[in-house]
Amino acid sequence: MKVNITETVLRDANQSLIATRMPFSDFEGILEKIDDAGYHSIECWGGATFDSCLRYLNEDPWERLRKIKSKIKKTKLQMLLRGQNIIAYKHYPDDVVRKFVEHAIQNGIDIIRIFDALNDFRNIEVAVEQTLKSGGHAQGAICYTISPIHNLENYIKLGKQLEGMGVDSICIKDMSGIMGPQEAYDLIKALKETINKPIVLHTHSTTGLGPITYFKAVEAGCDVIDCAISAFSGGTSQPATESLHFALKQSGYETGLDEVILKEINDFFKPVKDKFIQSGVLDPYVLGSETDALVYQVPGGMLSNLISQLKQSNSLDKLAEVLQEIPRVRKDLGYPPLVTPMSQIVGAQATTNVLLGERYQSISTEVKSYFRGEYGKAPGEVNAELVKKVLGDEEPMTHRFADTLEPEFEKAKKEIGSMAKNDEDVLSYIIFPPIAEKFFKYREESAALKVNYTITKV
Ligand code: CO
Repeated sequence: MKVNITETVLRDANQSLIATRMPFSDFEGILEKIDDAGYHSIECWGGATFDSCLRYLNEDPWERLRKIKSKIKKTKLQMLLRGQNIIAYKHYPDDVVRKFVEHAIQNGIDIIRIFDALNDFRNIEVAVEQTLKSGGHAQGAICYTISPIHNLENYIKLGKQLEGMGVDSICIKDMSGIMGPQEAYDLIKALKETINKPIVLHTHSTTGLGPITYFKAVEAGCDVIDCAISAFSGGTSQPATESLHFALKQSGYETGLDEVILKEINDFFKPVKDKFIQSGVLDPYVLGSETDALVYQVPGGMLSNLISQLKQSNSLDKLAEVLQEIPRVRKDLGYPPLVTPMSQIVGAQATTNVLLGERYQSISTEVKSYFRGEYGKAPGEVNAELVKKVLGDEEPMTHRFADTLEPEFEKAKKEIGSMAKNDEDVLSYIIFPPIAEKFFKYREESAALKVNYTITKV
């Protein structure tokens, strides 16, 4: 029996362990080997990689994608897209979503995993439709979470909805690594029995359950699992590629992976990992098993963000309190899954509640927008008293927020003018305006420097 493995070292592992700070030059030398290893796909773009390229690494994210594509020619390239939020934290108009998807595929992406933080699929419809139209593989994702309102029936209903939208495959996205092996078995089995699409499971090793959960998921018929090469595996990252391959092979499954090449890839990434540990970017804390997450359901990225934020305000001693406040805020918000941007919104509000010593003394703009319905429909009942406090007599919206947004692409293209070299630049500018502008200036200056250098040399 065949089980497919997706490698996440370039995106999710990079994002979960080292806040997406790996520059292209750190992995350029191993891309051809990665292409030869026999992976189902390589997750390498989207999520936080785009932001990080522009903000911290002075890299053009589009150029990074093209360079990856020029070296990974056989294996499918995969990205993570936050539905109507694209790769950021607010809703964009449909014309921008469509352009982004179109250009992502044109520049080399094959599979687009598309999710909405609230599992409000009105917010992924346009991206799914455009992916299919542009000839890509549209993978609809369901954010997995545990709450009184999230049960097997609910997940099957969500899966059926995705199937009805015409997606090519369905991913269960367990961003917190809280799914247990039995839950995985029951869920995957139920989905395989009712839905006629490949089922993908995505989890993290945060709680230590990851590898066992994957194994049981495969036993239930799971088609694809996401793993990270061992140097960048474990903890808040994915379970190790090599270990899963070994265990599955021993039990008669075929992954198609070449063990010798996997070892070469891992040997390549070991010194990269050491470099990030030495510079302090990789905090060994995130590499261990953190079983508190089974109670708090805090995803990997969120946990490392919370720690660094609390460190900055000299209040790391409040971590335990903040972790206890998170589930309470979540209940008030109708149990949104803790995935970006909801993880940040809930995390920030919980931190404010703790640091100010009084709950909701200050309410963030984002929580206000959430109650207004700007992020979509809350999965469950929201705290009515709190909504009244925030909205007063204002009615929350029932339509899709993006329906209220004017097309933006052509307007932005005019606005940025010659600083944008192509439509991809315009998209970078629309999504991260000041950061993209700063990057364009840097790019121009460094190009000018190169020209000067060449002239002097001649
Ligand atoms: Co993830």
